[in-house]
Amino acid sequence: MPYVFTPTLDSLLKHLSSDFKDQAKHALFHESVMGSLVLREQIARQLADAKVKCSAEEIIITSGCQEAISCTLRSICRVNDIVAVESPGFHGVIHILKALGIKVLEVPSDPVHGINLETLEISLSKYKIAAVIVNPTNNNPLGFSMSSERRHRLLKLAIAHDFYIVEDDTYGDLSFSYPRPRAIASFDVCGRVILCGSFSKTLAPGLRIGWVKPGPLYQLILHEKYISSGSSFTAAQKAIAKIMQKGDYQAHLRRMRDRYRQNIAKAKALLEKHFITPYNVTSPVGGYYLWIELPKGVLADDVNRAILDEGVQLASGRVFSVGGDFVSCLRMNCSGNIDYLFEEAVASVSRAVAKLQSKSLTLL
Ligand SMILES: Cc1ncc(COP(=O)(O)O)c(C=O)c1O
Repeated sequence: MPYVFTPTLDSLLKHLSSDFKDQAKHALFHESVMGSLVLREQIARQLADAKVKCSAEEIIITSGCQEAISCTLRSICRVNDIVAVESPGFHGVIHILKALGIKVLEVPSDPVHGINLETLEISLSKYKIAAVIVNPTNNNPLGFSMSSERRHRLLKLAIAHDFYIVEDDTYGDLSFSYPRPRAIASFDVCGRVILCGSFSKTLAPGLRIGWVKPGPLYQLILHEKYISSGSSFTAAQKAIAKIMQKGDYQAHLRRMRDRYRQNIAKAKALLEKHFITPYNVTSPVGGYYLWIELPKGVLADDVNRAILDEGVQLASGRVFSVGGDFVSCLRMNCSGNIDYLFEEAVASVSRAVAKLQSKSLTLL
């Protein structure tokens, strides 16, 4: 994954290293299972941006959002239960569900509205669904944010059909416009929404710090967290808490939101400049991914094979579904520098697609 250090990360690095130097013994000790109180206080404050009212006591720190989702699913579901997911959707979730022996129901998701609620409703009339996992704000891979009206409708369905909503807010703070959309959890007064988040996309994936707001499932999820990893990286928790207390995290977020908005615009301009063949591309409202639909008959895996020697690889669409759909789609990560190397990569992809398209046409 392209990863870029911006000067706004200096403060995080400073606190990470000074904690190790000055309080090494403390930093090497393990934290409580629920995680650093100061960090939980700061997360609770930050959640005001998503209009979620909560206290530090309602949050559990996890090792990334992956662990938050995994602990949540282990608390809610049993083997052979059915869980609905967005399709295309984040592949990490699909892997958790498969590992837990949970049946995955894929519900089509579109680049503007998100999960298709009409299709979900039909499925709810046929099956008992234990949970619906959505990534409604700055979605990976499609870049949409669900409208407030659709968030309400999903919550109403959860109440009517007695299922949990697992709200994955990993990219929530990366909306291009401010204020960010309200989290579904902010409308929830019945304890139907389990909100999960992370610092992996806003700060750094290697910190492995995420969190969950488990609502009525607090004890169950805390126990799952204990079984899963005991506690999360102490020094990272302390360093993040410090930069949040000082306001450096918020300054960093402002910079990253701006950077990703510009990156997406630049990357789309490069696609327009270099692509010879017809394609469809998303218009994200946050995050840093573009989802590209290639001409029919051109397979993303063939494109990746063709550009392997040039050191360029994009995420193949098929990993974003259980059934290996989206074989003609590519997800482009635009979080790194949009420089001449990026432009060369776009040109390589375009050349490979054009070649493969002419081959597929001659085979028709
Ligand atoms: C939508 C989504 N949810 C969860 C995760 C996992 O996040 P973490 O690295 O914090 O475990 C990712 C990581 O790519 C993601 O894209």
